[in-house]
Amino acid sequence: MAFLADALGRIKPSPTIAVTDKARALKAAGRDIIGLGAGEPDFDTPDNIKQAAIKAIQSGKASKYTAVDGIAELKAAVCRKFKRENNLDYKPSQVTVGTGGKQVLFNALVATLNPGDEVVIPAPYWVSYPDIVLLAGATPVPVTTRIEDGFKMKPEMLERAITKSTKWLIFNSPSNPSGAAYSRTEVKAITEVLMRHPHVWVLTDDMYEHLVYDDFVFSTPAEVEPRLYERTLTLNGVSKAYCMTGWRIGYAAGPEFLIKAMATLQSQSTTNPNAAAQWASVEALDGPQDFIPKHNKVFKERRDLCVSMLNQANGLVCPKPEGAFYVYPTCAGTMGKTSPSGKVLKTDEDFVTELLETEGVAVVQGSAFGLAPAFRISYATATEQLEEACRRIQRFCGNLK
Ligand SMILES: Cc1ncc(COP(=O)(O)O)c(C=O)c1O
Repeated sequence: MAFLADALGRIKPSPTIAVTDKARALKAAGRDIIGLGAGEPDFDTPDNIKQAAIKAIQSGKASKYTAVDGIAELKAAVCRKFKRENNLDYKPSQVTVGTGGKQVLFNALVATLNPGDEVVIPAPYWVSYPDIVLLAGATPVPVTTRIEDGFKMKPEMLERAITKSTKWLIFNSPSNPSGAAYSRTEVKAITEVLMRHPHVWVLTDDMYEHLVYDDFVFSTPAEVEPRLYERTLTLNGVSKAYCMTGWRIGYAAGPEFLIKAMATLQSQSTTNPNAAAQWASVEALDGPQDFIPKHNKVFKERRDLCVSMLNQANGLVCPKPEGAFYVYPTCAGTMGKTSPSGKVLKTDEDFVTELLETEGVAVVQGSAFGLAPAFRISYATATEQLEEACRRIQRFCGNLK
């Protein structure tokens, strides 16, 4: 519609939210649906974190506006977290807190991008990266990774993608949607390329830092290459590891002038993130962390279950990722086949639509994440449900002609 802004024409609604909504609608209509679309843990927020919010509300600490980009107590807790877990020294003035990691990412990109700027984004990517870049009027430059490389970007691929217009590399390890995580050596190889291009900044999205399996050790760029510190924005949040997606708190740390610019933007949009959620996040970061390995044990079992069952399905190949709670099988082997309803599968969107219609399993098509034909499964769902879903996927693939 002519009344709407041109910028809106450059973006699309989040396809992961769209599939979750579709699955919810089918369920409400009485269908037996297993939703594997949502990117959130199925575990509840730990009780000590909930109690911290309740206490903040009851003591009146949550009643008023707070500092725009976070209460001092939370910024201090974030600084402690970066020191303790990543060996990164940040001052509170280098920390910003927003309404979820997504707002922090949005602030960073909108505060820095101009038309003509390019942002390198390894694919498959989290759907919001290119869309926020487009909204800001800049150009996403996807770098297609390969299944043989475990969906990780090789240094030479990054080297080829960088131009004089490149402003940011968005680096996401462990990755949504592939679960791929870069070892310290692999992070180092990426930072070596960046050292050759001093005009390129790195926005590292460490949201899934804690969700890694099989003794994998997480590393973040500024920790591996301290000379990148001055041009790194290290983004993280409480949503995934602390089971707090609904609370909407994310944070980042980086050079002070950038953090200030992001706060200016936030001051003219949402003002401060929810005050009670900020107090809950202080407890999340400073409180006991013992539930994380417990959750990870369950996630690892589910990952192994998915990888094993999906690799037994006709036409699917599913690499075993190091982290997050996603697997990303390719379905190239099913393309051109016909489903029992008579539909020829031409794209991964056809695959996921038919899978939902015939077997009631909701997954997200890989084309939404910039690497097709494939699909993303979120295994943050009850193990029995997951097993049943994988059985249905096997049956679906087995019935293709
Ligand atoms: C890679 C990645 N970064 C950031 C986010 C944003 O998280 P939040 O819920 O804190 O906005 C998500 C959420 O799905 C994600 O997958």
